[in-house]
Amino acid sequence: MHEIDRRAVLAGLGALGAVALAPARGFAQGEPLLRKPIPGAAETLPAIGLGSWQTFNVGDDREALDRCAAVIARFFALGGTVIDSSPMYGSSQATIGHALARLGKQRTVFSADKVWTSPGSEGPAQIEQSRRYWQVPYFNLLQIHNLLSWEDHLRTLQRMKQERKVRYIGITTSHGRRHDEFEDVMRRHDLDFIQVSYNVLDREVEQRILPLAREKGMAVIINRPFRQGALIDDVKRHTLPPWAAEIGCANWAQFLLKFITSHPAVTCAIPATSRIDHLEENMGAMRGPQPDEATRRRMAAYVADL
Ligand SMILES: NC(=O)c1ccc[n+]([C@@H]2O[C@H](COP(=O)([O-])OP(=O)(O)OC[C@H]3O[C@@H](n4cnc5c(N)ncnc54)[C@H](OP(=O)(O)O)[C@@H]3O)[C@@H](O)[C@H]2O)c1
Repeated sequence: MHEIDRRAVLAGLGALGAVALAPARGFAQGEPLLRKPIPGAAETLPAIGLGSWQTFNVGDDREALDRCAAVIARFFALGGTVIDSSPMYGSSQATIGHALARLGKQRTVFSADKVWTSPGSEGPAQIEQSRRYWQVPYFNLLQIHNLLSWEDHLRTLQRMKQERKVRYIGITTSHGRRHDEFEDVMRRHDLDFIQVSYNVLDREVEQRILPLAREKGMAVIINRPFRQGALIDDVKRHTLPPWAAEIGCANWAQFLLKFITSHPAVTCAIPATSRIDHLEENMGAMRGPQPDEATRRRMAAYVADL
């Protein structure tokens, strides 16, 4: 595997110059995009990324691969960089690799992948296979998926980071799983990123995990922002509150995503989509005003009462 090259580091430093509100490439209005810092690093990330579970698991169907590549092309055009995948997601890694190669974006993407295998001794081979699927020189972020065999994988990832074969390392979980062990690993180990589920209805991580991430200086990626689609399907049957316009929400996707990305501990949310119109709604959440704490409470109460 190639070592991380100087270009990636310089790109990170360049992002520091652009700081929290960098102009969005691809928006005619030239409105700034919300970027958020990776704590302790000279780098910011766009607050909306792209998940890939199910949506990009399309096998080797040419037409479907091209449709996914079009979604990924639009994602980059609207200022996105963070794409999340896992060996657990069927052919999604290969789908992303196909799109990156076609678009020439292997060095633009902030590649966030995972290791998910047991025994832990299989980790290095799985990571190398994933890198080949993605067709990237290295991963920006490697996460231990759902803490599977985490002690072994953590040693592997720490060694890779030391050898400059990955830039950041972290752990993931999702809603419904116990957070005790997750919190314990966060307390005892030096991680750059965590990934958890969080949305306007599933707010358990507000109690301990998000404050702990801030305390420990860990970046936070949010999965299942739409409860795998069920939440947004539900709320879309209702009209937006009139005050949604005050926080720059033109649709429900932006309402749900701004609730997440405005949390001070959150670095980015990674909604998955197979549709360009949905992607455009989602990416729009990075524009315009973000809700303050009082408005966030109002948003949660509004959705809870629907
Ligand atoms: N433990 C872990 O590490 C873990 C666990 C869960 C998830 N994840 C990651 O997090 C990502 C996101 O979670 P998720 O995929 O479970 O669920 P999600 O992002 O909450 O929901 C995805 C669903 O929402 C729909 N959608 C997206 N944008 C929409 C819009 N604007 N309007 C209406 N529907 C919309 C998509 O359908 P369309 O295709 O029709 O748009 C898709 O079915 C995953 O893909 C994965 O990368 C990681």
